[in-house]
Amino acid sequence: MKITVCENYDEMSEKAAEIFIDNLKKAPSMTLGLATGSTPIGLYKNLVNAYKKSEISFKSVTTFNLDEYVPITPDNEQSYIYFMKDNLFNHVDMDESKINIPNGQAADPEKEAVEYDKKIEAAGGIDLQLLGVGPNGHIAFNEPGEYLISATHVTGLTEKTIKANSRFFASIDDVPKHALTMGIGPIFSAKKLVVLISGNGKKEVYEMLKTGKITTQCPATLLHLHADCTVLVDKDSIK
Ligand code: GLP
Repeated sequence: MKITVCENYDEMSEKAAEIFIDNLKKAPSMTLGLATGSTPIGLYKNLVNAYKKSEISFKSVTTFNLDEYVPITPDNEQSYIYFMKDNLFNHVDMDESKINIPNGQAADPEKEAVEYDKKIEAAGGIDLQLLGVGPNGHIAFNEPGEYLISATHVTGLTEKTIKANSRFFASIDDVPKHALTMGIGPIFSAKKLVVLISGNGKKEVYEMLKTGKITTQCPATLLHLHADCTVLVDKDSIK
């Protein structure tokens, strides 16, 4: 794991964008693993700008998002599909048929999870996976616990996550209590990982990552085991 502390949020976003732009130029039909949350918004802005300057294109790119709330409808502004369209897909030449995001209104979410992993496998796996981290060290919605689950699955959200994410909803009661999340397996099968650490309450996760200790009580620490993991940290969030 290579941890780089960036001067601020903008520098972190620019450095992350450089990695994505570089890889997209080399392999225009690559498969990207994408993340939501406040953290990657700056990166997505940089990617949209690079697209507008004709530096990159998304027309041959396939994407898989990490997670989605359950239940949620795609027209809900807090759904992750809405977020992705708003922050990236609607502003670039993405082929809609190549966008994959777990369906938050699937009649059978367990089946949706199994199908999602099959789709990732059929696409030949993920080439470059973006990750944020929760204040409790969660990656995607793999919450801290005694054990983690390898496959994509339906999970309950912890009180800490519901509270952290309630800032986006009208009230805490509106935050869905479940999510469909990529498991640790598909995340780890990605060839390259880029992890961004920014925002309130992330200092503890950063300090934990620095120790090199690995524990399911802080899922982000497992990323130490990946062969190609770049962590970019916004210095303002670890002061
Ligand atoms: C959310 C998402 C994660 C994201 C994390 C951090 O709950 N499921 O994929 O990385 O929380 O969000 P933020 O970037 O808003 O701090």
